[in-house]
Amino acid sequence: MPRVFFALWPDADVAQALHAAGRMAHTTCGGRLMRRDTLHMTLAFLGDVDPGKMDVACDAAAKVGAGETPLRLTIDRLGYWQHNHIVWAGCSQTPPGLATLAADLGGHLRCGGFALEERPFVAHATLLRDAACAGVPPPAPIVWNVAEFVLVESQPAAAGAHYRILRRWPLGPAQGHPACVV
Ligand code: 2AM
Repeated sequence: MPRVFFALWPDADVAQALHAAGRMAHTTCGGRLMRRDTLHMTLAFLGDVDPGKMDVACDAAAKVGAGETPLRLTIDRLGYWQHNHIVWAGCSQTPPGLATLAADLGGHLRCGGFALEERPFVAHATLLRDAACAGVPPPAPIVWNVAEFVLVESQPAAAGAHYRILRRWPLGPAQGHPACVV
């Protein structure tokens, strides 16, 4: 079964800047530096999905993408989570539209029968895994203009997962999709 998740995927410039921030953090935190081509911000993690349910996930995404407006993220902080040894990049001010996007997508996916994790959404792009440090200084701000979100397949590999973008949904004006009622 494909292992999939919805995410924001950076363009080449933003990926480069995130990777540079990761390289900088790596000098003090060690761990495994994520490859530039893998950097992303997860919106909703579905895990292993029956191929017959992929259409349901895509329908949920179509309802959401049409109702949201493009976003401008300023990545200006790095965080470290001790529980999973991850160094990540995020925003000191998460735009309300990003939280709304993640919440709406999650709501429509739950309506479609997907069980998502219950922990609150924290916008983050993982830069290092298996890292260890007390704290990380902020990077020079990275402006990330978001005009779409994507469905991605994660393909495990010995040298770290490979990700393949399966579909894209633009963030744009509402198209009159019916609301999802739980
Ligand atoms: P992470 O970077 O914080 O580990 C692909 O694995 C993406 O999905 C990663 O961004 C990862 O987040 C996220 N992810 C993996 N397993 C997850 C889970 N069980 N719940 C939520 N997100 C998960």
